[in-house]
Amino acid sequence: MKERLQQIREEARKQIGEAGTLDALNDVRVSFLGKKGALTAVLKSMKEVAAEERPRIGQLVNETREEIERLMEDAKGKMEQALREKRLKAEVIDVTLPAKKNQLGHRHPNTIALEEIERIFIGMGYEVVEGPEVEKDYYNFEALNIPADHPAKDEQDTFYVNGDILLRTQTSPVQVRVMEQGKLPIRMIAPGRVFRADEVDATHSPSFHQIEGLVVDKNITFSDLKGTLAQFAKELFGEETKVKFRPHHFPFTEPSAEVDVSCFKCKGSGCRFCKGSGWIEILGCGMVHPHVFEMCGIDPNEYTGFAFGIGLERISLLKYEIDDMRLLYENDVRFLQQF
Ligand code: DAH
Repeated sequence: MKERLQQIREEARKQIGEAGTLDALNDVRVSFLGKKGALTAVLKSMKEVAAEERPRIGQLVNETREEIERLMEDAKGKMEQALREKRLKAEVIDVTLPAKKNQLGHRHPNTIALEEIERIFIGMGYEVVEGPEVEKDYYNFEALNIPADHPAKDEQDTFYVNGDILLRTQTSPVQVRVMEQGKLPIRMIAPGRVFRADEVDATHSPSFHQIEGLVVDKNITFSDLKGTLAQFAKELFGEETKVKFRPHHFPFTEPSAEVDVSCFKCKGSGCRFCKGSGWIEILGCGMVHPHVFEMCGIDPNEYTGFAFGIGLERISLLKYEIDDMRLLYENDVRFLQQF
């Protein structure tokens, strides 16, 4: 029995030494210590051993088992260590590789221009308000003194939702909505999206943005309008900018004007930007028409005011020297990155 145990011990040591994988090692364990294993067989044959011999042989069996288990543990530990090292080597990271650059978002030229315009008017004490993009005919046209047969009301120019509801063609209806509330005086700008049934080209889009302005108070005169817009132009385009008021017509203002600024590119001598004229048109404006005041419940004998409407895209195209409006709507990151 003693020799058999010695034999088992040596055989196990040999096989453990030769086992190349964790699976092979497990097979070795089963063949010695498992239910049908060699050592288990020895235990089963204990009854053949003389009674006085049993404790000694029993102890020997235990020692053999412990030794086999220890050898297995050692071998297993070494194998796992080797596997770990192999994996770590395979997973090495090359820290000298160039990093992937994250594409950062950019503010849109329209957003930059609008924030600049808002900053200027807020500095002059104006409030920023908003109105709905889906608007009633009444606010978009009627209350603004635009007659039923005005060409702007034609379906060729205006997107109608139904007979009475439309996509606003201008931000001017916000004037009416603010005046209707009856809180005077008023100093506000109303930026927002407007819609017109226009074909897309370098200077047109069916959807663009305007910034409406409205001031209503006692004793507001055309001089206030001129001074305000001249100051606005200087802050936006530079101190040396000159403004020119050209008589014009808008149904909701009287008198009305269009405002040109001296070309900030050529300083007035004529270039590609100002199409050789030295001047660039930037907005429409005028004194609020008495009819509009009356429709909003404001007494035109007591109050006067001025209004203006700025095309936002026009300003961002000019300010950032972009020559095609379509670029503003494509949102190509390579384009937006430049601002
Ligand atoms: N609503 C006009 C347009 O879309 C622009 C405009 C002109 C607005 C004169 C005004 C104004 O408030 O006084 O063409």
